Amino acid sequence: MTPSDGTPPPFEPYRTKVVERIPDPSPAEREAALQRAHFNLFQLRSDEIRVDLLTDSGTGAMSDRQWAALMLGDESYAGSRNFTYFETVVRDLTGFAYVFPTHQGRAAENLLFSTLCRPGSVVPNNMHFDTTQAHILHNGGRPVNLAVPEAYDPDSEMPFKGNVDVAALEKLLDLEGREHVPLVMVTVTNNTGGGQPVSLANLREVSSLAHSRGVPLYLDMCRWAENAYLVREREAGLQGRSIREIGRAFFDLADGATMSAKKDGLVNIGGFVATRDPAVAERLNEAQILFEGFTTYGGLARRDLEAMAVGLVEATDLDYLSHRIGQVRYLAERLTAYGVPLLRPIGGHAVYLDVRRFLPHLSLEELPGQSLVVEIYREGAIRSVEVGSLMFGPPETGARSLELVRLAVPRRVYSSAQLAYVADVVGRVYARRGEIHGMRYAHRPAHLPHFTARFAPAATPTPRAG
Ligand code: F0G
Repeated sequence: MTPSDGTPPPFEPYRTKVVERIPDPSPAEREAALQRAHFNLFQLRSDEIRVDLLTDSGTGAMSDRQWAALMLGDESYAGSRNFTYFETVVRDLTGFAYVFPTHQGRAAENLLFSTLCRPGSVVPNNMHFDTTQAHILHNGGRPVNLAVPEAYDPDSEMPFKGNVDVAALEKLLDLEGREHVPLVMVTVTNNTGGGQPVSLANLREVSSLAHSRGVPLYLDMCRWAENAYLVREREAGLQGRSIREIGRAFFDLADGATMSAKKDGLVNIGGFVATRDPAVAERLNEAQILFEGFTTYGGLARRDLEAMAVGLVEATDLDYLSHRIGQVRYLAERLTAYGVPLLRPIGGHAVYLDVRRFLPHLSLEELPGQSLVVEIYREGAIRSVEVGSLMFGPPETGARSLELVRLAVPRRVYSSAQLAYVADVVGRVYARRGEIHGMRYAHRPAHLPHFTARFAPAATPTPRAG
């Protein structure tokens, strides 16, 4: 079956200036690659991959203006003019007075959590990303996910499934008190929950609740421009407002933020942590110098700061965002035409396959998400990633969990023809889903297992679905 007259692919608001050849490994080469990688797609080489949808992080294409910005590098150790420009841009977008560049998002998390978190701390979020969760644990804290219940229902069409469950947050703050909760975090968009947006109304409630208890609010703002785009489409009273205006309304409710500029900063490496609290800023600065580098470069070449500043502004462009999110929707529409079960509504940066409905015959012990990423690679040399109990650890008994496979769309990289190819490949895997067997761990490391675990096909083939 081929989808016939769906919506046309979104018009690219750019043209190609440099091209990079992509490989086309044969079925035998793919099989050999899988064996060599112990069925862990993080262990594949890029020349074994045809379409790489592992992540949208640091995989985007820079614009001609960003490449030109690299040539403006002032590589002074201290006081580089690139830092001054970068700081001005971030202050202007966010209103946060103190801005500390880092080499990427998790480095910003390291600075923030090593500053604010201590053993016994509890850090609520809508849903923590894996590195956020790991940094809180590393500092002796306990990460808690408090997304609205709809976030756990892949079929719910609620427009703001990234929202925080405010009643649950209030309960947690009542229970733990200000002394145990050093900050409330909100991730925009909620990557772990399917790239779902947070509404301004929800953040307003979270902000006033946290502040009424004397607890600061920090945003994980990796995909803040995509969040603003979805808010602009969906939230009453905000239609027609600019991305910068909407973004600023969010930042005005927060005390600071961590940022991986590898997402909505449109760069291949870079990030920052920002705050408006001078006392926190002083400690962040000390941690930055200890872990990253001096205040005015923070683990990056100064030219990187210039490119990041340009990228942060480009990411607010409506033509760019409507094409970007249009591409994600285009991929989703083609997949839906094949009947492939997806987490709905479609989020900002990726299409998420609903693994429970894709492979209902596999139990969680049979690692269905990992089985699916392996089959998608086997079928068409496409790399995707499991976002579920493998990435985050199996859910506690009775806890809610999402079992997803994410097809993350890199920014400004793939054409619609390439995305149509992805849909065809996943459609073929779906057609033979009943034959897909589970996987098991051959080696399971203690921390962040998805990166380095080794897998093997499950010993006993599971019976076919009816
Ligand atoms: N927060 C969120 C919401 C993220 O999605 C990521 C990274 C980070 C923090 C950490 O940033 O990679 O620059 O250190 N997400 C990537 C992904 C890796 O594939 O979703 P980083």
